[in-house]
Amino acid sequence: MDLRTERSRLLSAFQKRFGSGGQVRAAIAPGRSNLIGEHTDYNGGLVLPIAVDRHILVLFRPARGTPARIAVYTETLEARDEFSVSGTHAAGDPKLHWANYVRGTAQALINRGIKLKGGDLYITGDLPRGAGLSSSAALETATALALLTLAGRAMAPQPLAFACQEAEHRFAGVRCGIMDQTVVGLAKPNHALLLDCHSMATRHVPIALRGYSFAVFDTGVRHKLAGSEYNKRRAECEHAAALLKQKTLRGVTLDAMLAIAGSLTASEHRRVRHVLTENLRVVQFAAALARGDVAELGALLDASHESLSRDYAVSCVELDQLVAQLRARGARDHGCAGARMTGGGFGGAVVALLKTSAFPPYARAMKPYAKGGSLLLTPSAGARVVRL
Ligand code: GLA
Repeated sequence: MDLRTERSRLLSAFQKRFGSGGQVRAAIAPGRSNLIGEHTDYNGGLVLPIAVDRHILVLFRPARGTPARIAVYTETLEARDEFSVSGTHAAGDPKLHWANYVRGTAQALINRGIKLKGGDLYITGDLPRGAGLSSSAALETATALALLTLAGRAMAPQPLAFACQEAEHRFAGVRCGIMDQTVVGLAKPNHALLLDCHSMATRHVPIALRGYSFAVFDTGVRHKLAGSEYNKRRAECEHAAALLKQKTLRGVTLDAMLAIAGSLTASEHRRVRHVLTENLRVVQFAAALARGDVAELGALLDASHESLSRDYAVSCVELDQLVAQLRARGARDHGCAGARMTGGGFGGAVVALLKTSAFPPYARAMKPYAKGGSLLLTPSAGARVVRL
């Protein structure tokens, strides 16, 4: 979204809802797409996501009438919510839907000793929901920045990411890792973020692929079991790690695996194999990005998908079909170097490496499989607060 051209529309939409006067600011947070390193973050592993050029905006202004309340309106869903600055609930209420992300974030800040101040929040943006671009992490991060600014406080990006993750755990019921919230906060334009989820060390990896770009294709489906299966995978990995006397699968060696081989179920074995090989692929991918080695990047995307589909069992028919279609066309016209499911799985999106000029024909050809649409990705900057 171009803030310069949208400024007056946004301002008048805000004022129509909350009245005029006062300085309106905007917390702006991008969506994310993960290039590689899937289901590794909560296993203390490596990930390589980018922020995308689609955003959630939270326009905000200090409260006037009722200083102890936070009033929220979402333009996208045409719904409102209101809660006290002293706290909301201990946990999420499924009936609150989207408002859980806002309330959960507010509560996570309160839990960290932030004294919230009243304000009016207006949520808008051009980041589609449920398209595998982590609109939830963007909403949490933009909300957190708006609430912190209203409270006259600041928080470093990493603790902020953990606060947003807590909102997701406690209020949305998904025990997600730390990848989404970290990249939404820390991303740099034209770079991917290499994040080590064990040490939390980060490195910005430049993306300079001449004539090639990453793109996402959204299946448009989201299977009901996504949340519960996600938590189940996490539990399987935690069980395997516990048998290995490790907190996460990060420290697991081949020797340790050999020693406990008989105690793991066949599916636990496959889960561990995915996590260990995926960590390796992340390192190889970052190196190939630096070399601009398109063929290797494509091969790693393909290998990641096979591993996610067979070993980790988080793909689904629609994702497999879309990946197969992209690859089949790529084999014919060399427009696509590789493709894989991205994000949590069980629906959602596929990320592919394409010749930039081939994107329009691919987007047209994939329409029957990418019912949620497609998007050429521009690696973008992380979240920030701007004046409107
Ligand atoms: C979701 C979670 C992330 C990560 C991915 C899978 O997007 O929010 O933390 O676990 O799934 O890699």
